Amino acid sequence: MVNKKQKKRILTGDRPTGPLHIGHYVGSLANRVKLQEEHECFFIIADYQVLTDHLSETAKISQNIKEIVLDYLAVGLDPQKSAFFVQSRIPEIAELTMYFSMLVTVPRLQRNPTVKEEMAAAKIGKKELSYGFLGYPVSQAADILSIRANLIPVGEDQLAHIEQTREIARAFNRLFGEVFPVPEPLLGSFPRLPGIDGQKMSKSRNNAIYLKDSPQEVTKKVMQAYTDPTRIRATDPGHLEGNVVFAYLDAFCQDKEELKTLKEKYKKGKIGDVEVKKRLVQILNEFLTPIREKRQHFEARPKLVGEILKTGIDETRQEAKETLSLVRKAMHFDYKDIL
Ligand code: TRP
Repeated sequence: MVNKKQKKRILTGDRPTGPLHIGHYVGSLANRVKLQEEHECFFIIADYQVLTDHLSETAKISQNIKEIVLDYLAVGLDPQKSAFFVQSRIPEIAELTMYFSMLVTVPRLQRNPTVKEEMAAAKIGKKELSYGFLGYPVSQAADILSIRANLIPVGEDQLAHIEQTREIARAFNRLFGEVFPVPEPLLGSFPRLPGIDGQKMSKSRNNAIYLKDSPQEVTKKVMQAYTDPTRIRATDPGHLEGNVVFAYLDAFCQDKEELKTLKEKYKKGKIGDVEVKKRLVQILNEFLTPIREKRQHFEARPKLVGEILKTGIDETRQEAKETLSLVRKAMHFDYKDIL
């Protein structure tokens, strides 16, 4: 299927579980800022998905949605070019989820490796697994296909869901006729940034550097960051593998000559951890200053932020309504002879 505007349509997004961190920036947001120049972009704030493993914390979702919109605006996602929307505010997604749920078998859902990992992380066993948690990849397929998106920029962990989405699109088209494009994942090229402790960067591990962190917070976190445990004195030769400080420098140091020199010196034991960390703090704060300023600009204008979200929801709903009218027609669910 070809979109009206002949541009590729993109959908990706985030769960509103907290503010976004520098790992999100490197792995995804930087790429989105570029993609919005050439594509029609939709960014979903997936509030239904928070219910899968944070059902007792729904009171926080509203604030988290606000934080994410502010982070989007702060890094330069542009509401003039892209639509930001909240998943639960598009009722067509819920309707589509219902139809799609009939096209997926339970054993197929039980094989999804990302769902399994998330169950383990949330300490949810097979016996406690809710129908909604098991089935959320179906709802994610509805997110994507409700606007008939073509390209889905995601990290590795989401590939299993995109594969399920593709299967659902094909199954629907086979049964009812061509309604959906079969979307493609678009994998980011930058490796995932570790948290300051060397583990996966995440809010729950308390090891993230947030885009909204103050210069003092950034300094404190970088000074605690994991480097090379084999290095006792600054004159010992240092290792770069698994070294969080150098992982961050790889991502944020624009001056590649300087980076090379720092690495050489570190390997030879000619520069101490503290000195490298101080330079990293400078580099990170230089990167974050304009982002913080832009965030403050919008933070001071909560009404504007609300308007941006409402506009994005309206734009998305318009597309989703069109899709659902095609879906109902294809399924003979429009009942046009009686209603
Ligand atoms: N599951 C994604 C995450 O946890 C968020 C998401 C929801 C999403 N719907 C989507 C991503 C549709 C891409 C396309 O980060």
